[in-house]
Amino acid sequence: MQQNVLILDFGSQYTQLIARRVRELNIYCEIHPYNNPPKDISGFKAAILSGSPFSVRAEDAPHPDLSEIRGKKPLLAVCYGAQYLAHFHGGKVEPSETREYGRANLSIIKDAEALFENITENSQVWMSHSDTIKELPTNAVRLASTSDVLNAAYRIDGEETFAIQFHPEVYHTSDGKQLLENFLVNIAGVEQSWTPEAFVDMTVSELKEKIGNDKVVLGLSGGVDSTVAAVLLHKAIGKNLYCIFVNNGLLRKNEFDSVLDQYKDMGLNVKGVDASARFLDALAGISDPEGKRKKIGNAFIEVFDDEAHQIQDVKFLAQGTIYPDVIESVSATGGPSATIKSHHNVGGLPDFMKLKIVEPLRALFKDEVRRVGAELGIAKELLGRHPFPGPGLAIRILGDVTAEKVRILQEVDAIFINGLKEWMLYDKVWQAGAILLPVNSVGVMGDERTYEKVVALRAVESTDGMTADWVNLPYEFLQKISNTIINKVKGVNRVVYDISSKPPATIEWE
Ligand code: XMP
Repeated sequence: MQQNVLILDFGSQYTQLIARRVRELNIYCEIHPYNNPPKDISGFKAAILSGSPFSVRAEDAPHPDLSEIRGKKPLLAVCYGAQYLAHFHGGKVEPSETREYGRANLSIIKDAEALFENITENSQVWMSHSDTIKELPTNAVRLASTSDVLNAAYRIDGEETFAIQFHPEVYHTSDGKQLLENFLVNIAGVEQSWTPEAFVDMTVSELKEKIGNDKVVLGLSGGVDSTVAAVLLHKAIGKNLYCIFVNNGLLRKNEFDSVLDQYKDMGLNVKGVDASARFLDALAGISDPEGKRKKIGNAFIEVFDDEAHQIQDVKFLAQGTIYPDVIESVSATGGPSATIKSHHNVGGLPDFMKLKIVEPLRALFKDEVRRVGAELGIAKELLGRHPFPGPGLAIRILGDVTAEKVRILQEVDAIFINGLKEWMLYDKVWQAGAILLPVNSVGVMGDERTYEKVVALRAVESTDGMTADWVNLPYEFLQKISNTIINKVKGVNRVVYDISSKPPATIEWE
């Protein structure tokens, strides 16, 4: 059984970062909303309280019940957590007189404190709060200050309770990871045993137990998550895993055949279903982006359902859902968010399939999925693939979708992506692709006037797709790609490069 750390979420934008930092220390942890904590917390070795957009002085501020935690388990309270412990336990929290956002330098007062072991004097920490702790709670000892924040860290005497006003989880707190390690490993004694190898061993035996000799169906998309989920399941149940890879006619050039071959080489029991015509028929004449998504979603369900019904006695549906899709974080308005995002690859499968769900990657962040994939021996090229949207090229063809437009865009996209690879730029880009615009422009080729399509190229850097910036690709590269596209792809006479960040734009154009 993995040792576990509880992170109580008060709605901070940084809560997921705390979990990621903890996981980087090879320690397993789970995020739970403060107002819906796990019923039984006896299995947790330590707890961390997150920050929050709330002020502890607000009437509707989060008011967690810590009776099962405080004094019973090692506790680290971050930002709001630190203010909460002060405000309600004999201290005083007031609005700050000076701005307390951004960088500050930590002055450690109490030497030889386990929490600050190996943390450099004056190391940079990141603050983000508008209230400040004026007076410490009962039995507290100040551990550190900054020039503007007297009570930047404290400990409660007689308990393993620590509180810090700054954010150890953000990149700009230079010794943040060390502080988390000090707390979790040196103080709480949590084992650093959450490794890809341990995850694979544990998950394979859990899957064996859960599934037994039953059959499982899984929709492969060619992406990292569904591939890693499939290989894990295959390791656990072998031939009883039935994978279905649907060609919706909206994939990249030659992608269906090449990915299918890769899957077969990996020993997966996979059926490729070419349903291109069905998808293109369903899309005929539809220009509205959401309308296109709906048609594609419905066609996928129909195809997948037909195929799944051909497998006798299938009991489980496997999905590549990952942790960010699962976390029920607390919304900034206080209540837990109403909906948990559903996985979009096979999202919305109808109830009539009556299959039990199995989601072997539910506990993992994206970077952990990649590490597990590497542990399972999946090829680097497959694990390093850029994200690609479920509705594929349909949302990169503005306006209605036709077979001819798909063909043009596939050609353009292939030249761009292969070019990125040849110029060693592919791994520097988070996502890239081409967009077919619904306009024609005038050009001249030889002595002939042309009136043909415009394509836009998009390449962004990002960590999670939530925010993104355009990539400063070398001019020489853009020049070469533009020339190649216009010379080789019939029907295109102009190429533009998208230099919009997200926000305010989005990554896809639709
Ligand atoms: P946006 O355009 O919202 O995209 O900035 C963010 C990320 O999400 C991907 N995306 C989708 N993925 N189904 C998907 O599976 C969709 O309908 C969809 N729309 C956008 C997009 O490619 C980017 O990685």
